Amino acid sequence: MRSPFVFGKIAAGSCFMDREQECAQMVDNFCNLTNTVLISPRRWGKSSLVRRASERAAERDKQLRICHLDIFNVRSEEEFYEKLAECVLTSTSSRWEEMMSAARRYLSSLMPVLSVGDPQNSVSFSFTKKPVRNNADEVLDLAERIAEEKKLSLVVCIDEFQQIACFDDPEAFQAKLRSHWQLHQRVAYCLYGSRRHMMTEIFTNPGKPFYKFGQNIFLDKIARVHWPPFIISKFRETGKSISEVQCLKIAELTEDNPYYIQQLSEMVWNRTAQVCEDEMIADAFQSLVESQAGLNLALTQTLTITQQNLLHAIVDGVVQLTSASVLEKYGLKNSLTVQRAKKVLVRLDILDDFGRVITMEDPIYAWWLRHIYFA
Ligand SMILES: Nc1ncnc2c1ncn2[C@@H]1O[C@H](COP(=O)(O)OP(=O)(O)O)[C@@H](O)[C@H]1O
Ligand SMILES: [Mg+2]
Repeated sequence: MRSPFVFGKIAAGSCFMDREQECAQMVDNFCNLTNTVLISPRRWGKSSLVRRASERAAERDKQLRICHLDIFNVRSEEEFYEKLAECVLTSTSSRWEEMMSAARRYLSSLMPVLSVGDPQNSVSFSFTKKPVRNNADEVLDLAERIAEEKKLSLVVCIDEFQQIACFDDPEAFQAKLRSHWQLHQRVAYCLYGSRRHMMTEIFTNPGKPFYKFGQNIFLDKIARVHWPPFIISKFRETGKSISEVQCLKIAELTEDNPYYIQQLSEMVWNRTAQVCEDEMIADAFQSLVESQAGLNLALTQTLTITQQNLLHAIVDGVVQLTSASVLEKYGLKNSLTVQRAKKVLVRLDILDDFGRVITMEDPIYAWWLRHIYFA
């Protein structure tokens, strides 16, 4: 029997739970063509939420098309244009000839070349006329032109959007995007990403082009109360059982991280013949920690001693990180070194400084540091 849990993939269908309020808000935004900016640490459920909202919005409005673009691996402005054109064309055309003709009409000065390749007839796209940067207007307005022509509405969803901050001359590029996109009448944008500091810098800094671009949604974790009914029903559907207290234990051990909750649930499910026993949870958690230990050790070895000492204090639950006794106990030179180390660890997404207190982004890494590495 296959596991009823999903992790590391989009959580869809009955594997997607809660997020009702955020989802309703995003569906409204999509149908009203309001721009949305969605920010959370990785693995909290952005991609899954965007997919779910897209499906619902498309059901509500039959003239709405939604295209999805992930720019995690996109390294340059040029590549961005190719991907954008490809995603807009494929989501608004049903046939290859239709796509070719739209490309010829709306992107003529860039002399586009389309090629179809395996697998699954995927279309890839390039421009003959380079650099595209000097003729980018056509690509940036492509979605609006096609939407006008076909009397459609379009939402362009771009995942890992903070990647654009790594292109050459990122501010000029952002200014160019914004100047086009803000004129679009039939197209809205949903821009989301996991690098929270980069995302907030792009969207909440009044000096930057994307300031007040759309509605900013800072995604929270799913509240713990929602997990037991979800896990219990997944066990029940597959002829197994688990108690509410045991489910709460799973959520507690993984600090409500949705990815790890699903992963640990699956590991517990694997160990359960019929009825889950507490030892199975302890054992599964142990192997979850062990499975990450190699990576965690490698990561820790890239950090300086000061950065490691700071992590030590944080996983011990210290809040007053710059008090004299803490500095001494953890071998931290002075408050300036603490600030510097903290900044680096935040930039590396190891620490999260968005709440009232600083926390570790990865609960399994935190557990490993506390109970194994520093023990
Ligand atoms: N609404 C949800 N319901 C159940 N599990 C979820 C939900 N959102 C996320 N998850 C879990 O977290 C994992 C990561 O979700 P994902 O949407 O890829 O996050 P992100 O895009 O923020 O990195 C999923 O594979 C799934 O295990
Ligand atoms: Mg994602």
